Amino acid sequence: MSIAALEKACPETAIVLGSGLGSVAEAWGIEAEVAYADIPGLSASTVPGHAGRFVLSRVHGKPVLIAQGRRHLYEGLTAHEVTAGIRFMHTFGVKRIILTNAAGAINASFAVGDLMLITDHLNLLGSTPLLGGPHFHDMSEVYSAPWRARFIEAASQLRLPLHQGVYAATLGPQYETPAEIRMMRTLGADAVGMSTVPEAIQARALGMEVAGISMLTNWAAGLKAQTLDHSEVVSTGRASSANLAALLKSVL
Ligand code: HPA
Repeated sequence: MSIAALEKACPETAIVLGSGLGSVAEAWGIEAEVAYADIPGLSASTVPGHAGRFVLSRVHGKPVLIAQGRRHLYEGLTAHEVTAGIRFMHTFGVKRIILTNAAGAINASFAVGDLMLITDHLNLLGSTPLLGGPHFHDMSEVYSAPWRARFIEAASQLRLPLHQGVYAATLGPQYETPAEIRMMRTLGADAVGMSTVPEAIQARALGMEVAGISMLTNWAAGLKAQTLDHSEVVSTGRASSANLAALLKSVL
């Protein structure tokens, strides 16, 4: 697909799919696709479980632009670089974006394999895509309250457990220590991951409506007797992605 074909479809809604969650797009059918590598300023992810392409799908007849795979700061990129895809989607008139990710569960009342609606975030990355401006952007409601209400309603109709909580973004690429997880819990985090926050900040600064969903792929370090492993994160994400696809479809 050429970039012109994307432009013609005029998608107003976009979704970014995180680790192991790429199959959500396949469930809806792929009308067209373009590789990140074919778009100036974008490049494919170096991480297994992240495909690296835009896919155009249709949900209830409406075009939805899906970013299958994302870039991370831990790949050695700046927060500005990892959010190039958000600015690219904005140029096509995307007005609202759902950011999904794989995350470790910190809140002991959650369960692995469940979804968490992001109510707010803690930016522990030490960076932001807005370095250099625009300055002093309001971040009082990054994750749209009206959109959150629709997710809660949709999950209850689907009888899907949907937790709500604060997502802490950490640089990675190593997983956390148990002491770091206890610190994050004390700070108010319910889940931890290595993405999403730069994209959410960039999208809000562009005036987009933002929603965030975490797939809780594992217990965060120290919560259970276990070691953490990316292949398990990806396989839990894959196993539970049908629930995510159903929830997204219902909200759209
Ligand atoms: N920590 C950080 N990032 C993650 C985790 C985690 O436990 N699980 C999935 N992404």
